[in-house]
Amino acid sequence: MTAKKKPKVYITRKLPDAVETRMRELFDAELNIDDAPRSVPELVAAVRTADVLVPTVTDRIDAALIDQAGPQMKLIASFSNGTDHIDVEAAARRGITVTNTPNVLTEDTADMTMALILAVPRRLGEGARVLTDNPGEWAGWSPTWMLGRRIHGKRIGIVGMGRIGTAVARRAKAFGLSIHYHNRKRVNPAVEDELEATYWESLDQMLARVDIVSVNCPSTPATFHLISARRLALLQPTAYLVNTARGDVVDEAALIKALREGRIAGAGLDVFENEPAVNPKLVKLANDGKVVLLPHMSSATIEGRIDMGDKVIINIRAFIDGHRPPNRVLP
Ligand code: DGY
Repeated sequence: MTAKKKPKVYITRKLPDAVETRMRELFDAELNIDDAPRSVPELVAAVRTADVLVPTVTDRIDAALIDQAGPQMKLIASFSNGTDHIDVEAAARRGITVTNTPNVLTEDTADMTMALILAVPRRLGEGARVLTDNPGEWAGWSPTWMLGRRIHGKRIGIVGMGRIGTAVARRAKAFGLSIHYHNRKRVNPAVEDELEATYWESLDQMLARVDIVSVNCPSTPATFHLISARRLALLQPTAYLVNTARGDVVDEAALIKALREGRIAGAGLDVFENEPAVNPKLVKLANDGKVVLLPHMSSATIEGRIDMGDKVIINIRAFIDGHRPPNRVLP
């Protein structure tokens, strides 16, 4: 009896050691030990020879690349929750299955969203920088110095009440915020009751009434620049915007303009339209204390990354064994 040939699995970035060890045991795994993002020619070579591609959010798996795939390429098992970097329809046309890693990033992303919701109005970044950038200059406590805005009792408007949006709502409720949300569909009444949440069918009406906006919807053609210049103009001048979803859901140029003109109070951003490039105007606004910027790290926990790796492995094994992978993404 001959041993079953291991599938050739091409992994585009360095993964946690434990995940790579398991991948090596189970598959003919091509790893990326130095973690340098793969070039387009490298990805083309990979899809021509590998059975399975394991990309991350930093790889553009578009139709042009998918069209170069050899007949052996049958699965794109993304090491990500979001799949906006993959042309899922182009993959389906070529008979390639796509999977992702949902659920395991929910709590970590919601924690970091909550951290930004607290950090921006309470001037956490500015305060911390006083002691590290100019340690001798702190004159001590003063009744009128470094005053932020109270969180408790304010209204949060969550744009996208999926798993992450709901997890953000649970945290926000615990911090004394009242929950408002906009979603394509109303959530389960039991969840609405638990959160004492108000559903807004009209995003515009919700935006005009809340103090903090948290963007938690995926990036799709329908959500591109959902938070547009027109919608930013609906916000109150005391409002804050937090985005831990995807940069292109917010019109970044319009956001910068609104912040510079003082038409909204501040923003907390973990994601950007042209990652990893960050608009220097945003950096200037961060230095002026108007925004807190993070380098796309909302889901970055050791546990989360290992869980993502486990999901990728489960999806690949199911597919190889002829079963429907649990996290199949449909076009
Ligand atoms: C994902 O996997 O979609 C996340 O954005 C990574 O943080």
